[in-house]
Amino acid sequence: MRVADWALVRLLPAVPRAVVQLLSAPYIAGPTLEDARRTVAALNAEGKLATVDVLGEKVRRPAEAEAVASSYHAALDALAGDRLDANISVKLTALGLGIDLDLCRSLLATVVADAAARGIFVRIDMEHSACTDDTLRLYRELRAAGRENVGIVLQSRLQRTLADVGDIADLRPNVRLCKGIYVEPPTIAYQGRDAIRGNFVQTLDALLELDCYVGVATHDEWLVERSLERVEGLGRDCYEFQMLLGVRERRATELVAAGHRLRVYVPYGDRWYEYSLRRLQENPALAGMLAKAAVLRVVPRRG
Ligand code: FDA
Repeated sequence: MRVADWALVRLLPAVPRAVVQLLSAPYIAGPTLEDARRTVAALNAEGKLATVDVLGEKVRRPAEAEAVASSYHAALDALAGDRLDANISVKLTALGLGIDLDLCRSLLATVVADAAARGIFVRIDMEHSACTDDTLRLYRELRAAGRENVGIVLQSRLQRTLADVGDIADLRPNVRLCKGIYVEPPTIAYQGRDAIRGNFVQTLDALLELDCYVGVATHDEWLVERSLERVEGLGRDCYEFQMLLGVRERRATELVAAGHRLRVYVPYGDRWYEYSLRRLQENPALAGMLAKAAVLRVVPRRG
């Protein structure tokens, strides 16, 4: 990581909220469900799918978790009402994982049931490694209860990921595969770019071998290319590419034009500050890119 990136990360908590909001604006639909709805409709018009995330995580009180679940029910209602081509992404710490596992289980089950009734898929985001076991357990419970409209995320940064594929292979899971945004210690996680990329490709191969539907979630061109090689000849219903709102939009459009399914992660809500800071702080390399990308949009070029 470059010195400038470190400096940025250390300075971030001191940056005024308005500046953080400005820096992160391209990556967030806006504070309201209406903002998300408008963003998803625009993406759909470009032939892109979406997954909607209600911003917020690590709630401290049950009432906050219940409020997040209510927001998801409202989002499901809006997506179904407008017949938008979108699913939802849910963070379990926002539904109370970390304060009360049973509460989280019950709120998640209600959200997944509501989504199922509307024919909408639910992606359970993967958070830091302390959440991995509980997240996989709750996912397995839902599948054991007959829920098919639910999928999981695996992170190629973690050394355990290939073993996790083996453990859930019997479920033929629908998996979003990503590198993993959380900084994890070398005892459990690959640290270098090549090792993380290598594990990504190996995990993708293992999932495709199992006939799993895979959401290839990366902006890394090297990985996009390796993934394209691997999905060549597969039907559109076997995989999709996924990218974050505001990132590599032109590449996303190219993938759509080439006939691939492409889903954009659309976060919205008034908890944008925590989301923005977490992204910027927990992955310093991403922080540098976020800041540079945003500053380039804000500061007019000379000449
Ligand atoms: P990398 O970070 O190397 O980025 C590759 C290139 O993309 C960069 O060189 C740059 O050009 C461009 N780029 C990437 N991010 C950019 C940005 N913000 N602004 C400008 N340019 C940017 N993680 C997790 O732990 N749990 C999860 O559930 C999810 N969910 C998820 C969903 C989706 C749809 C995506 C795309 C990603 C996630 N992630 C995630 C995050 C993921 O783990 C990872 O941290 C980021 O995608 C960054 O890694 P890349 O593979 O994109 O490579």
